[in-house]
Amino acid sequence: MFPLTRCSRWLLSRQPQVISAAGSVRGPRKLSGSAVAMAPIERVTVIGSGLMGSGIAQVAAQTGHGVQLVDVSQDVLSVASKRIESSLARVAKKKFAEDPQAGVDFVKTTLGRIQFTVDAVEAAKSCDLVIEAIVENVGVKQKLFSELDKAAPSSTIFTSNTSSLSITEIASSTDRRDRFGGLHFFNPVPVMKLLEVIRIDETSDATFDALMKFGKAMKKTTVSCKDTPGFIVNRLLVPYLAEAVRLLERGEASAQDIDTAMKLGAGHPMGPFELLDYVGLDTTKFILEGWSERFPDNPLFKPTEHVNQLVEAGKIGMKSGEGFYSYKKS
Ligand code: 3HC
Repeated sequence: MFPLTRCSRWLLSRQPQVISAAGSVRGPRKLSGSAVAMAPIERVTVIGSGLMGSGIAQVAAQTGHGVQLVDVSQDVLSVASKRIESSLARVAKKKFAEDPQAGVDFVKTTLGRIQFTVDAVEAAKSCDLVIEAIVENVGVKQKLFSELDKAAPSSTIFTSNTSSLSITEIASSTDRRDRFGGLHFFNPVPVMKLLEVIRIDETSDATFDALMKFGKAMKKTTVSCKDTPGFIVNRLLVPYLAEAVRLLERGEASAQDIDTAMKLGAGHPMGPFELLDYVGLDTTKFILEGWSERFPDNPLFKPTEHVNQLVEAGKIGMKSGEGFYSYKKS
Protein backbone atom coordinates (compact mmCIF):
# COMPACT_ATOMS: atom_id res chain seq x y z
CA MET A 1 0.00 0.00 0.00
CA PHE A 2 1.31 3.43 -0.92
CA PRO A 3 0.73 5.44 2.26
CA LEU A 4 -1.45 8.51 1.91
CA THR A 5 1.24 10.72 3.38
CA ARG A 6 3.64 9.80 0.60
CA CYS A 7 0.91 10.31 -1.96
CA SER A 8 0.34 13.73 -0.51
CA ARG A 9 3.99 14.56 -1.04
CA TRP A 10 3.91 13.75 -4.73
CA LEU A 11 0.83 15.81 -5.13
CA LEU A 12 2.23 18.89 -3.59
CA SER A 13 24.04 2.00 -27.35
CA ARG A 14 23.36 5.60 -28.16
CA GLN A 15 22.62 6.89 -31.66
CA PRO A 16 21.94 10.52 -32.57
CA GLN A 17 18.27 11.42 -33.03
CA VAL A 18 17.25 11.83 -36.64
CA ILE A 19 14.36 13.84 -38.00
CA SER A 20 12.91 12.19 -41.09
CA ALA A 21 12.28 14.20 -44.24
CA ALA A 22 8.59 14.12 -43.36
CA GLY A 23 9.44 15.91 -40.14
CA SER A 24 8.35 13.26 -37.66
CA VAL A 25 10.67 12.47 -34.78
CA ARG A 26 11.89 8.94 -35.41
CA GLY A 27 14.75 6.59 -35.00
CA PRO A 28 16.71 7.66 -31.94
CA ARG A 29 18.68 5.35 -29.74
CA LYS A 30 17.51 1.77 -29.70
CA LEU A 31 17.87 0.01 -26.39
CA SER A 32 17.69 -3.74 -25.96
CA GLY A 33 14.28 -5.09 -26.85
CA SER A 34 13.21 -1.89 -28.58
CA ALA A 35 12.72 -3.70 -31.88
CA VAL A 36 10.17 -5.99 -30.26
CA ALA A 37 6.63 -4.67 -30.63
CA MET A 38 4.92 -4.10 -27.31
CA ALA A 39 1.53 -5.55 -26.44
CA PRO A 40 -1.29 -3.05 -27.01
CA ILE A 41 -2.06 -0.80 -24.07
CA GLU A 42 -5.24 -1.97 -22.37
CA ARG A 43 -4.90 -1.02 -18.71
CA VAL A 44 -4.05 2.56 -17.83
CA THR A 45 -3.21 4.16 -14.49
CA VAL A 46 -3.82 7.91 -14.40
CA ILE A 47 -2.22 9.66 -11.43
CA GLY A 48 -3.78 12.97 -10.44
CA SER A 49 -7.53 13.44 -10.77
CA GLY A 50 -7.68 17.18 -11.49
CA LEU A 51 -9.20 18.59 -14.65
CA MET A 52 -6.58 16.99 -16.91
CA GLY A 53 -6.27 13.66 -15.08
CA SER A 54 -10.01 13.11 -14.87
CA GLY A 55 -10.43 14.09 -18.53
CA ILE A 56 -7.71 11.61 -19.56
CA ALA A 57 -9.27 8.87 -17.41
CA GLN A 58 -12.67 9.58 -18.92
CA VAL A 59 -11.50 9.38 -22.53
CA ALA A 60 -9.43 6.25 -21.83
CA ALA A 61 -12.52 4.59 -20.35
CA GLN A 62 -14.75 5.84 -23.19
CA THR A 63 -12.40 4.14 -25.66
CA GLY A 64 -12.60 0.80 -23.85
CA HIS A 65 -9.51 0.89 -21.64
CA GLY A 66 -9.50 -0.30 -18.05
CA VAL A 67 -8.57 2.69 -15.90
CA GLN A 68 -7.30 3.22 -12.38
CA LEU A 69 -7.54 6.86 -11.35
CA VAL A 70 -5.34 7.77 -8.40
CA ASP A 71 -5.40 10.72 -6.04
CA VAL A 72 -4.62 11.57 -2.43
CA SER A 73 -8.03 11.07 -0.85
CA GLN A 74 -11.46 9.58 -1.41
CA ASP A 75 -12.89 13.10 -1.15
CA VAL A 76 -10.78 14.33 -4.05
CA LEU A 77 -11.64 11.20 -6.02
CA SER A 78 -15.31 11.68 -5.38
CA VAL A 79 -15.12 15.20 -6.88
CA ALA A 80 -13.35 13.69 -9.91
CA SER A 81 -15.98 10.97 -10.23
CA LYS A 82 -18.76 13.58 -10.28
CA ARG A 83 -16.86 15.67 -12.84
CA ILE A 84 -16.40 12.63 -15.10
CA GLU A 85 -20.04 11.63 -14.75
CA SER A 86 -21.27 15.07 -15.74
CA SER A 87 -18.86 15.26 -18.68
CA LEU A 88 -19.98 11.79 -19.81
CA ALA A 89 -23.59 12.97 -19.57
CA ARG A 90 -22.72 15.81 -22.00
CA VAL A 91 -21.17 13.31 -24.40
CA ALA A 92 -24.16 10.96 -24.03
CA LYS A 93 -26.67 13.74 -24.67
CA LYS A 94 -25.08 14.36 -28.05
CA LYS A 95 -24.23 10.75 -28.96
CA PHE A 96 -27.51 9.18 -27.90
CA ALA A 97 -29.93 12.07 -28.54
CA GLU A 98 -32.49 9.64 -29.98
CA ASP A 99 -32.15 7.00 -27.28
CA PRO A 100 -31.78 8.46 -23.75
CA GLN A 101 -31.67 4.97 -22.14
CA ALA A 102 -28.64 4.07 -24.30
CA GLY A 103 -27.07 7.30 -23.01
CA VAL A 104 -27.68 6.27 -19.40
CA ASP A 105 -26.15 2.84 -20.13
CA PHE A 106 -23.15 4.47 -21.83
CA VAL A 107 -22.45 6.64 -18.79
CA LYS A 108 -22.79 3.65 -16.44
CA THR A 109 -20.61 1.31 -18.53
CA THR A 110 -17.92 3.92 -19.03
CA LEU A 111 -17.80 4.88 -15.36
CA GLY A 112 -17.67 1.17 -14.53
CA ARG A 113 -14.34 0.92 -16.35
CA ILE A 114 -12.76 3.39 -13.89
CA GLN A 115 -11.49 2.31 -10.49
CA PHE A 116 -10.82 5.12 -8.06
CA THR A 117 -7.92 4.55 -5.67
CA VAL A 118 -5.48 6.31 -3.34
CA ASP A 119 -2.83 3.62 -3.83
CA ALA A 120 -0.54 4.67 -6.69
CA VAL A 121 1.99 1.89 -6.22
CA GLU A 122 -0.62 -0.86 -6.18
CA ALA A 123 -2.27 0.64 -9.28
CA ALA A 124 1.08 0.73 -11.10
CA LYS A 125 1.58 -2.99 -10.44
CA SER A 126 -1.22 -3.96 -12.80
CA CYS A 127 -1.17 -1.63 -15.77
CA ASP A 128 0.42 -1.27 -19.20
CA LEU A 129 0.72 2.50 -19.03
CA VAL A 130 1.06 5.16 -16.34
CA ILE A 131 -0.01 8.71 -17.20
CA GLU A 132 1.04 11.22 -14.56
CA ALA A 133 -0.97 14.45 -14.29
CA ILE A 134 0.00 15.75 -10.85
CA VAL A 135 1.39 19.08 -9.67
CA GLU A 136 3.93 20.73 -12.03
CA ASN A 137 7.01 20.18 -9.87
CA VAL A 138 9.96 18.20 -11.24
CA GLY A 139 11.09 16.95 -7.81
CA VAL A 140 7.63 15.74 -6.85
CA LYS A 141 7.18 13.99 -10.19
CA GLN A 142 10.66 12.38 -9.96
CA LYS A 143 9.89 11.07 -6.49
CA LEU A 144 6.60 9.57 -7.63
CA PHE A 145 8.13 7.88 -10.69
CA SER A 146 11.06 6.55 -8.69
CA GLU A 147 8.58 4.83 -6.31
CA LEU A 148 6.49 3.48 -9.20
CA ASP A 149 9.59 2.25 -11.05
CA LYS A 150 10.31 -0.23 -8.26
CA ALA A 151 6.75 -1.60 -8.30
CA ALA A 152 5.52 -1.58 -11.90
CA PRO A 153 6.13 -4.51 -14.26
CA SER A 154 9.15 -3.95 -16.52
CA SER A 155 6.83 -3.78 -19.54
CA THR A 156 4.85 -0.82 -18.15
CA ILE A 157 5.38 2.45 -20.00
CA PHE A 158 5.63 5.65 -17.95
CA THR A 159 4.46 9.00 -19.28
CA SER A 160 3.95 12.52 -17.99
CA ASN A 161 1.27 14.98 -19.11
CA THR A 162 3.47 17.92 -18.08
CA SER A 163 2.80 21.06 -20.10
CA SER A 164 6.17 22.75 -19.66
CA LEU A 165 8.69 20.66 -17.74
CA SER A 166 11.46 18.48 -19.19
CA ILE A 167 10.39 14.86 -19.66
CA THR A 168 14.09 13.87 -19.74
CA GLU A 169 14.58 15.35 -16.29
CA ILE A 170 11.47 13.64 -14.91
CA ALA A 171 12.50 10.29 -16.46
CA SER A 172 15.99 10.52 -14.95
CA SER A 173 14.64 9.26 -11.63
CA THR A 174 13.83 5.86 -13.18
CA ASP A 175 15.66 2.92 -14.68
CA ARG A 176 13.22 2.70 -17.58
CA ARG A 177 14.09 5.71 -19.70
CA ASP A 178 13.61 3.60 -22.84
CA ARG A 179 10.02 3.08 -21.70
CA PHE A 180 9.38 6.73 -20.83
CA GLY A 181 7.75 9.48 -22.88
CA GLY A 182 5.31 12.36 -22.76
CA LEU A 183 1.59 12.32 -23.53
CA HIS A 184 0.38 15.90 -23.60
CA PHE A 185 -3.39 16.29 -23.69
CA PHE A 186 -5.39 19.51 -24.00
CA ASN A 187 -8.19 20.97 -21.95
CA PRO A 188 -11.04 20.02 -22.19
CA VAL A 189 -9.66 16.53 -22.86
CA PRO A 190 -12.98 15.00 -24.04
CA VAL A 191 -13.30 17.74 -26.67
CA MET A 192 -9.79 18.61 -27.84
CA LYS A 193 -8.73 16.29 -30.65
CA LEU A 194 -4.95 16.63 -30.33
CA LEU A 195 -2.44 14.53 -28.43
CA GLU A 196 1.26 15.42 -28.47
CA VAL A 197 3.46 12.32 -28.12
CA ILE A 198 6.88 13.27 -26.79
CA ARG A 199 9.97 11.14 -27.06
CA ILE A 200 13.18 11.70 -25.19
CA ASP A 201 16.53 10.55 -26.62
CA GLU A 202 16.23 7.25 -24.77
CA THR A 203 12.59 6.45 -25.71
CA SER A 204 12.70 3.19 -27.66
CA ASP A 205 10.96 2.80 -31.01
CA ALA A 206 8.70 0.14 -29.47
CA THR A 207 7.63 2.54 -26.70
CA PHE A 208 7.06 5.39 -29.12
CA ASP A 209 5.00 3.17 -31.45
CA ALA A 210 2.94 1.88 -28.51
CA LEU A 211 2.21 5.47 -27.41
CA MET A 212 1.22 6.55 -30.92
CA LYS A 213 -1.11 3.53 -31.18
CA PHE A 214 -2.55 4.34 -27.78
CA GLY A 215 -3.24 7.92 -28.93
CA LYS A 216 -5.13 6.59 -31.94
CA ALA A 217 -7.02 4.12 -29.75
CA MET A 218 -8.01 7.15 -27.64
CA LYS A 219 -9.41 8.60 -30.91
CA LYS A 220 -7.00 11.52 -30.77
CA THR A 221 -4.98 12.91 -33.65
CA THR A 222 -1.36 12.42 -32.68
CA VAL A 223 1.64 14.57 -33.44
CA SER A 224 5.16 13.81 -32.27
CA CYS A 225 7.71 16.18 -30.87
CA LYS A 226 11.10 16.05 -29.20
CA ASP A 227 11.46 17.00 -25.55
CA THR A 228 11.67 20.75 -26.12
CA PRO A 229 10.09 23.38 -23.80
CA GLY A 230 6.32 23.51 -24.41
CA PHE A 231 6.56 20.90 -27.17
CA ILE A 232 4.61 22.28 -30.16
CA VAL A 233 1.39 23.83 -28.88
CA ASN A 234 2.50 25.51 -25.67
CA ARG A 235 5.76 26.70 -27.26
CA LEU A 236 3.65 28.76 -29.65
CA LEU A 237 0.63 29.39 -27.45
CA VAL A 238 2.28 30.65 -24.25
CA PRO A 239 4.40 33.39 -25.93
CA TYR A 240 1.28 34.39 -27.90
CA LEU A 241 -0.71 34.73 -24.67
CA ALA A 242 2.10 36.72 -23.04
CA GLU A 243 2.31 39.00 -26.08
CA ALA A 244 -1.44 39.67 -25.84
CA VAL A 245 -0.94 40.73 -22.20
CA ARG A 246 1.94 43.01 -23.23
CA LEU A 247 -0.30 44.63 -25.87
CA LEU A 248 -2.85 45.29 -23.12
CA GLU A 249 -0.18 46.51 -20.68
CA ARG A 250 1.01 49.09 -23.21
CA GLY A 251 -2.59 50.37 -23.43
CA GLU A 252 -2.75 49.68 -27.16
CA ALA A 253 -6.05 47.75 -27.11
CA SER A 254 -8.56 46.45 -24.60
CA ALA A 255 -8.77 42.79 -23.57
CA GLN A 256 -12.24 42.60 -25.12
CA ASP A 257 -11.05 44.00 -28.46
CA ILE A 258 -7.97 41.74 -28.54
CA ASP A 259 -10.24 38.73 -27.88
CA THR A 260 -12.72 39.80 -30.54
CA ALA A 261 -9.88 40.39 -33.01
CA MET A 262 -8.37 36.94 -32.53
CA LYS A 263 -11.74 35.17 -32.67
CA LEU A 264 -13.03 36.95 -35.76
CA GLY A 265 -9.73 37.78 -37.45
CA ALA A 266 -7.85 34.54 -36.79
CA GLY A 267 -10.71 32.09 -36.26
CA HIS A 268 -9.67 31.07 -32.75
CA PRO A 269 -12.49 29.63 -30.61
CA MET A 270 -11.42 31.83 -27.69
CA GLY A 271 -9.50 35.08 -27.53
CA PRO A 272 -6.18 35.12 -25.61
CA PHE A 273 -7.68 36.61 -22.43
CA GLU A 274 -10.57 34.14 -22.44
CA LEU A 275 -8.03 31.36 -22.93
CA LEU A 276 -5.77 32.70 -20.18
CA ASP A 277 -8.72 32.64 -17.80
CA TYR A 278 -9.68 29.16 -19.02
CA VAL A 279 -6.18 27.65 -18.68
CA GLY A 280 -5.56 29.50 -15.39
CA LEU A 281 -3.30 32.52 -14.90
CA ASP A 282 -1.37 30.58 -12.25
CA THR A 283 -0.48 27.96 -14.88
CA THR A 284 0.67 30.56 -17.39
CA LYS A 285 2.69 32.40 -14.73
CA PHE A 286 4.32 29.15 -13.66
CA ILE A 287 5.24 28.21 -17.24
CA LEU A 288 6.70 31.65 -18.06
CA GLU A 289 8.69 31.81 -14.83
CA GLY A 290 10.13 28.32 -15.32
CA TRP A 291 11.13 28.95 -18.92
CA SER A 292 12.57 32.42 -18.28
CA GLU A 293 14.68 30.98 -15.47
CA ARG A 294 16.02 28.30 -17.81
CA PHE A 295 16.31 30.58 -20.86
CA PRO A 296 16.82 34.12 -19.49
CA ASP A 297 17.84 35.52 -22.90
CA ASN A 298 14.64 34.52 -24.68
CA PRO A 299 12.28 37.56 -24.68
CA LEU A 300 9.33 35.34 -25.68
CA PHE A 301 9.40 33.71 -22.24
CA LYS A 302 9.42 36.93 -20.21
CA PRO A 303 6.79 36.89 -17.41
CA THR A 304 4.20 39.65 -17.52
CA GLU A 305 3.52 42.04 -14.65
CA HIS A 306 -0.25 42.10 -15.18
CA VAL A 307 -0.58 38.30 -14.87
CA ASN A 308 1.68 38.29 -11.81
CA GLN A 309 -0.48 40.93 -10.11
CA LEU A 310 -3.73 39.10 -10.84
CA VAL A 311 -2.29 35.85 -9.49
CA GLU A 312 -1.07 37.63 -6.37
CA ALA A 313 -4.61 38.95 -5.86
CA GLY A 314 -5.97 35.39 -6.15
CA LYS A 315 -7.62 36.18 -9.50
CA ILE A 316 -6.44 33.18 -11.44
CA GLY A 317 -9.28 32.89 -13.95
CA MET A 318 -12.42 30.79 -14.23
CA LYS A 319 -11.52 28.44 -11.39
CA SER A 320 -11.35 31.33 -8.87
CA GLY A 321 -14.33 33.20 -10.33
CA GLU A 322 -12.21 36.06 -11.68
CA GLY A 323 -9.19 36.67 -13.89
CA PHE A 324 -9.18 39.11 -16.78
CA TYR A 325 -12.96 38.66 -16.72
CA SER A 326 -15.38 38.02 -13.86
CA TYR A 327 -17.28 34.71 -13.74
CA LYS A 328 -19.14 35.47 -10.54
CA LYS A 329 -22.85 34.81 -10.72
CA SER A 330 -24.71 38.03 -9.95
N1 3HC B 1 -16.89 17.24 -21.51
C1 3HC B 1 -17.60 16.84 -22.54
N2 3HC B 1 -18.01 17.66 -23.52
C2 3HC B 1 -17.68 18.94 -23.42
C3 3HC B 1 -16.92 19.46 -22.35
C4 3HC B 1 -16.53 18.54 -21.36
N3 3HC B 1 -15.79 18.90 -20.31
N4 3HC B 1 -16.74 20.79 -22.55
C5 3HC B 1 -17.35 21.11 -23.67
N5 3HC B 1 -17.92 20.00 -24.20
C6 3HC B 1 -18.64 19.90 -25.44
C7 3HC B 1 -20.05 20.45 -25.28
O1 3HC B 1 -20.95 19.45 -24.85
C8 3HC B 1 -20.35 20.92 -26.68
O2 3HC B 1 -20.77 19.84 -27.47
P1 3HC B 1 -21.81 20.09 -28.69
O3 3HC B 1 -21.19 21.16 -29.55
O4 3HC B 1 -21.93 18.78 -29.34
O5 3HC B 1 -23.04 20.54 -28.01
C9 3HC B 1 -19.00 21.38 -27.21
O6 3HC B 1 -18.01 20.73 -26.41
C10 3HC B 1 -18.83 22.88 -27.11
O7 3HC B 1 -19.01 23.26 -25.75
P2 3HC B 1 -19.89 24.51 -25.30
O8 3HC B 1 -21.09 24.66 -26.19
O9 3HC B 1 -20.12 24.40 -23.83
O10 3HC B 1 -18.96 25.76 -25.42
P3 3HC B 1 -18.17 26.31 -26.64
O11 3HC B 1 -18.79 26.03 -27.96
O12 3HC B 1 -17.94 27.72 -26.25
O13 3HC B 1 -16.78 25.50 -26.59
C11 3HC B 1 -14.61 25.02 -25.80
C12 3HC B 1 -16.02 25.43 -25.43
C13 3HC B 1 -14.62 23.58 -26.35
C14 3HC B 1 -13.78 25.07 -24.53
C15 3HC B 1 -14.07 25.99 -26.92
O14 3HC B 1 -14.22 27.30 -26.51
C16 3HC B 1 -12.63 25.76 -27.26
O15 3HC B 1 -12.28 24.85 -28.03
N6 3HC B 1 -11.74 26.60 -26.67
C17 3HC B 1 -10.30 26.50 -26.86
C18 3HC B 1 -9.75 25.57 -25.82
C19 3HC B 1 -8.27 25.43 -25.95
O16 3HC B 1 -7.59 26.13 -26.66
N7 3HC B 1 -7.74 24.46 -25.18
C20 3HC B 1 -6.33 24.24 -25.12
C21 3HC B 1 -5.81 24.97 -23.93
S1 3HC B 1 -4.06 24.80 -23.78
C22 3HC B 1 -3.87 23.34 -22.96
O17 3HC B 1 -4.79 22.66 -22.59
C23 3HC B 1 -2.47 22.92 -22.75
C24 3HC B 1 -2.11 22.97 -21.29
O18 3HC B 1 -0.85 22.32 -21.16
C25 3HC B 1 -2.02 24.37 -20.73
